[in-house]
Amino acid sequence: MKIAVVGGTGDLGEGLIKRLCLNHQVVVGSRIKEKAQNIASELSAKVREETGIEPNVSGEANPEAVKGSDVAVLAVPSEYALQTVISLSSEFPAGCVLVSPVVPMVKTEDGFLYSPPDGHHSMAEAIAEQVNVPVVAAFHTLPAKKLADLKLQPEFDVPLVGDSEEAVRRVSNLIESIPRLRPLYVGSLRTAQLVESLTPLILNVSAKNKLRNLSLKFV
Ligand SMILES: NC(=O)c1ccc[n+]([C@@H]2O[C@H](COP(=O)([O-])OP(=O)(O)OC[C@H]3O[C@@H](n4cnc5c(N)ncnc54)[C@H](OP(=O)(O)O)[C@@H]3O)[C@@H](O)[C@H]2O)c1
Repeated sequence: MKIAVVGGTGDLGEGLIKRLCLNHQVVVGSRIKEKAQNIASELSAKVREETGIEPNVSGEANPEAVKGSDVAVLAVPSEYALQTVISLSSEFPAGCVLVSPVVPMVKTEDGFLYSPPDGHHSMAEAIAEQVNVPVVAAFHTLPAKKLADLKLQPEFDVPLVGDSEEAVRRVSNLIESIPRLRPLYVGSLRTAQLVESLTPLILNVSAKNKLRNLSLKFV
């Protein structure tokens, strides 16, 4: 598959790209084309050094990156997710699936709290209103640092939600292409808040119990 990672120059981008480029063509997206190309070269070199495999990673400005993609991952901070998706809305090709890993949350003195955009139950539903391609929400609970360390083979579950059966199947296949990750379907986009709010839960458990880079496994 051809995977575009909008904001792929960031933390989640690094982790996802290093794993996905072992089996897919990946395009790093950035607001700045040159930055995308530099990060693509850096990540390719790291993957080559760590695995001996020559990955297929390139870099483009975000609008170019999503062109021709089978899956586009919106890996930008929550506060910029809607404006980014609005600016790219006419660029997603027909047949593309947009994946939102975006976790809307705020840090308070009581810890992290779930905080979806005004008037919406979840970020994924707010994003879906802005685009003409199916949206699947996934990857929220994957810690970027553990993904980026290819020496680790973490065994995590990846809950995902979406309204389109075909789109959910495609993203499930993508998740399964990363060894030891198990996609678990949760329900329609209406249930996205359940999945998005797992991350503040995990971060609070981490902080209060001095544990790092926790994720999720249903047993
Ligand atoms: N980090 C994690 O462990 C993790 C895990 C699961 C889910 N998530 C979710 O994944 C998303 C990305 O997280 P992250 O930690 O990778 O974020 P990040 O490193 O802070 O930022 C990712 C990229 O977003 C782009 N960006 C920054 N400001 C922007 C703006 N104003 N408009 C458009 N793009 C902007 C930047 O790329 P350019 O400057 O190159 O454009 C940046 O490299 C978040 O929504 C987060 O909730 C993160």
